[in-house]
Amino acid sequence: MTSRKPLISGNWKMNLNHFEAIQLIQKLSYALTKDDIEAVDVSVHPPFTDLRSVQTVLQADKIPIALGAQNCHWEAKGAFTGEIAPAMLSKLSVQYVITGHSERRQLFGETNEDVNRKVKAIVKAEMTPIMACGETLEQREAGEVEDHIVTQLREGLAGVKADDVSNMVIAYEPIWAIGTGATATPEDAQEVCALVRATVLDLYNKPTADAVRIQYGGSVKPGTAPEILTQPDIDGALIGGAALSAEDFAHCIQYRLR
Ligand code: 13P
Repeated sequence: MTSRKPLISGNWKMNLNHFEAIQLIQKLSYALTKDDIEAVDVSVHPPFTDLRSVQTVLQADKIPIALGAQNCHWEAKGAFTGEIAPAMLSKLSVQYVITGHSERRQLFGETNEDVNRKVKAIVKAEMTPIMACGETLEQREAGEVEDHIVTQLREGLAGVKADDVSNMVIAYEPIWAIGTGATATPEDAQEVCALVRATVLDLYNKPTADAVRIQYGGSVKPGTAPEILTQPDIDGALIGGAALSAEDFAHCIQYRLR
């Protein structure tokens, strides 16, 4: 048994304006009980334009849900039109920042080196990176899962200190399972999450591997959450579509009761 507290994160992607975001966070706070939040850490990752509004609601109503972002730049400031600096997020009480999401890698050309710079910048700004990794269907069919995941982790974590890795979150999100309704089987998800932990052990040490939280992401729904979230190396979920419904997201968070 481990003492890692699960973290269930809602990645809202490019959905919801700030009015809709306020509605969703309020509905979510009604749907969750104190016990739910004691058992599971919860974060929501709205678009940048919603962050201030969601922060205000969370603080005013003392809702114990952590605020997260979906991305950031690695530089502290400067001529980077359209980008957001880590300190701008920490100033808004953002606690978690997703980096290396496959949509950013595939659609916006982010490399492992970019992800690595972002991980370091997020840590430096005293927030927690949620670093995503995951293979395509072609890589899975070609038997390249292990090579690909190990490379993403080795390059994404290069030069990051063990203590910082202990506090971070790694999300395994097989690309073929994102938004497709095709969740990995609990066994497949567990197998790769165990590989992630073994890779952290290899790169660092046992205390770091034991402490790092590993999420699974890819079509997690209320119906699939219980089996996925009770796997030994899975410490939470990174949820897209189902996080846009307060009811479905709450049901995923309440996986122990289901
Ligand atoms: P879905 O839950 O919609 O498959 O999205 C997963 C994801 O990409 C979370 O980051």
